Amino acid sequence: MNLSPAIFGLRPLQAVDLDAVLAIAAASPEAPRWKPSDYAPYFASATASPPLLRIAMAAISMGGPEEKVVGFAAGSLLLDGQQNLCQLDSMAVHPDLRRHGVGTALLRAILAWAAQNGADHLSLEVRAGNTSAIRLYERLGLRPEGHRPRYYADPEEDALILGMPVTQVCNQADFH
Ligand SMILES: CC(C)(COP(=O)(O)OP(=O)(O)OC[C@H]1O[C@@H](n2cnc3c(N)ncnc32)[C@H](O)[C@@H]1OP(=O)(O)O)[C@@H](O)C(=O)NCCC(=O)NCCS
Repeated sequence: MNLSPAIFGLRPLQAVDLDAVLAIAAASPEAPRWKPSDYAPYFASATASPPLLRIAMAAISMGGPEEKVVGFAAGSLLLDGQQNLCQLDSMAVHPDLRRHGVGTALLRAILAWAAQNGADHLSLEVRAGNTSAIRLYERLGLRPEGHRPRYYADPEEDALILGMPVTQVCNQADFH
């Protein structure tokens, strides 16, 4: 993809983004393998009400004549009055545009949404061997909270559960 990686913006994911998102997911075997219909509840047009809220953000390249989706992240928030847990459900960045801060910006946007909507904690599952994602998550303050043996198939792999208090994220000096 011939894009300027330094110039991108974020906006809520829309149905028109689906083909681009499917292509990025297909090029990202570490990401969850969702069917096209799995994305629909996360679109900005989808109606959601407590206790279960969902969000998805698209990272958009602004470097060319037309905007292109270069990454996405999807999250959900269960407002159960106890944990008020936000989960990062999926995230991927176009392989040609990684290591330019897109993944970090996407996760920060999910965290900001979670904080604004009453989340107490963020949690996610990640393949134990996915060092790229684990480093990103740890840089943002997530820490190991558990382990699910043989959680993933094809190839079989353990899941690490990482998490952090959402308030801690929002108090970080560099959070914006
Ligand atoms: C994980 C992923 C979303 C990261 O996206 P990204 O835009 O490249 O992330 P960033 O540029 O914000 O990286 C932030 C930091 O994470 C770490 N990191 C990211 N990719 C890395 C890599 N390949 N190797 C080592 N560290 C890495 C680095 O510390 C990086 O900071 P730096 O570039 O200043 O060193 C991307 O690699 C991806 O789409 N992977 C496939 C799908 C996936 O694994 N999704 C997550 C599981 S659902």
